[in-house]
Amino acid sequence: MSNPRGEFRSRLGFILAAAGSAVGLGNIWGFPTQAASNGGAAFLITYLMLAFVLAYPALMAELLIGRHTHQNMVTALESLPESGPLRSLGRFTGIGGLVTASLILSFYAIVAGWMLGFAASYPLKAMGVTHTAEWLITFDLPRNALLMLVFMGLTIAVVLGGVEDGIERWSRRLMPLLIATLIALSAYVLTLEGALAGLKAYLLPDFSKLLSRGLLIDALGSAFFSLSLGVGTMLIYGSYLSDKENIPRVGAQVALVDIGIAVLAGFLILPAMYVADARGVAIFNSSGGLLSEDTLIFTVLPALFETMGSIGVTLATAFFVLMSIAALTSSISMLEVPVAYLIERHGLTRHHATFLTGACIAAFSSLIVLNFGSLFGWVITVSTRYGQPLLGILICIFAGWVWRRDALLKELKKNDPDAASGLFWRIWPFYVKWLCPVIIGIIVFQSIV
Ligand code: TRP
Repeated sequence: MSNPRGEFRSRLGFILAAAGSAVGLGNIWGFPTQAASNGGAAFLITYLMLAFVLAYPALMAELLIGRHTHQNMVTALESLPESGPLRSLGRFTGIGGLVTASLILSFYAIVAGWMLGFAASYPLKAMGVTHTAEWLITFDLPRNALLMLVFMGLTIAVVLGGVEDGIERWSRRLMPLLIATLIALSAYVLTLEGALAGLKAYLLPDFSKLLSRGLLIDALGSAFFSLSLGVGTMLIYGSYLSDKENIPRVGAQVALVDIGIAVLAGFLILPAMYVADARGVAIFNSSGGLLSEDTLIFTVLPALFETMGSIGVTLATAFFVLMSIAALTSSISMLEVPVAYLIERHGLTRHHATFLTGACIAAFSSLIVLNFGSLFGWVITVSTRYGQPLLGILICIFAGWVWRRDALLKELKKNDPDAASGLFWRIWPFYVKWLCPVIIGIIVFQSIV
């Protein structure tokens, strides 16, 4: 390929970008309440184990294939096998990945748009622009469409800048801001009355809750979504990684940051919920479980901020800016998947590729907005419940079965001459070959049955 590809300038830049992809709405609105409802620290321990035993090997498969081929997902998977039919399977898997990444972005952008709406609404209301402020947080068609378009515009603007000046630069700016905001918000909330009850719900382990099989499956599903696996986002980021970097190590750092931020979010969300409880805001649903996901973010927390007067405005704004940042560093990684493909396979300029895919995804997203009741849930199910794990299995098969072992070892030896005697080499090939495909297969099978 004659066009010079992008490459992350530094290890930190890569880690922040990959962790930025991983840390998203999933971490902040999913993990904390899931943990609280499912045995607190016991869930946390299980989640950590699953993440390291199963999700980390799958992450490594993507990063290694990406870094080895320095290509987009379609070309990368096509170039691993030596025979014709497997090459077609590689191409097919790669195209499946970029379609799925686009589908995920099409619903993600709608939710992220709501975050932008809430973030703007609080300061506007404080300035007396009440009507617009209300409109921004009220579910209706023009508002959903407009905010989605604004968010897609931001995503396109970053991806237009390319790897170093777009993705890396913005991840380097936004991720520290995200971490600082998260720490500041939780430190404040922890001082409020009721916070301790939240900490207890989060951290006291209740191992009896762990025995249910459904829970393990849920935890694994969220680990996969949280690490952005299956659709080639990590593969493409790996492809921009310099040959000097030790992949097992940076991969582990990315996984640790992702899990660390999910855990940290628990120190904000759960205390905040119990502070809300102490102030009379409903935090449990009719069956006694904690309210979660969209109700938590768009009803419980705003009701809590409402009770806090003027500091509530600052906190609310900071919180929704935090969510918007988390969403943006994730959405750029999704858009990069089809964009890289169009640049490398069809010779488009980054400019054209970004506008073209961005426009197509925004158009599809508008279709979802117009048919919200029927399409929104369906797109989420198809892309995350089936698409992601099925593609994840295929990627593991490519890494474990198709990719020749000697070539794989050579890739690892690029920056670690002793790779052959290392722990990683002794364990990981077995994992991607057998454990990951089989276990992910069981999960998919169970969710279909
Ligand atoms: N991991 C992100 C989150 O937790 C979302 C995300 C980014 C993603 N890229 C992805 C999910 C690719 C699945 C596939 O919100």
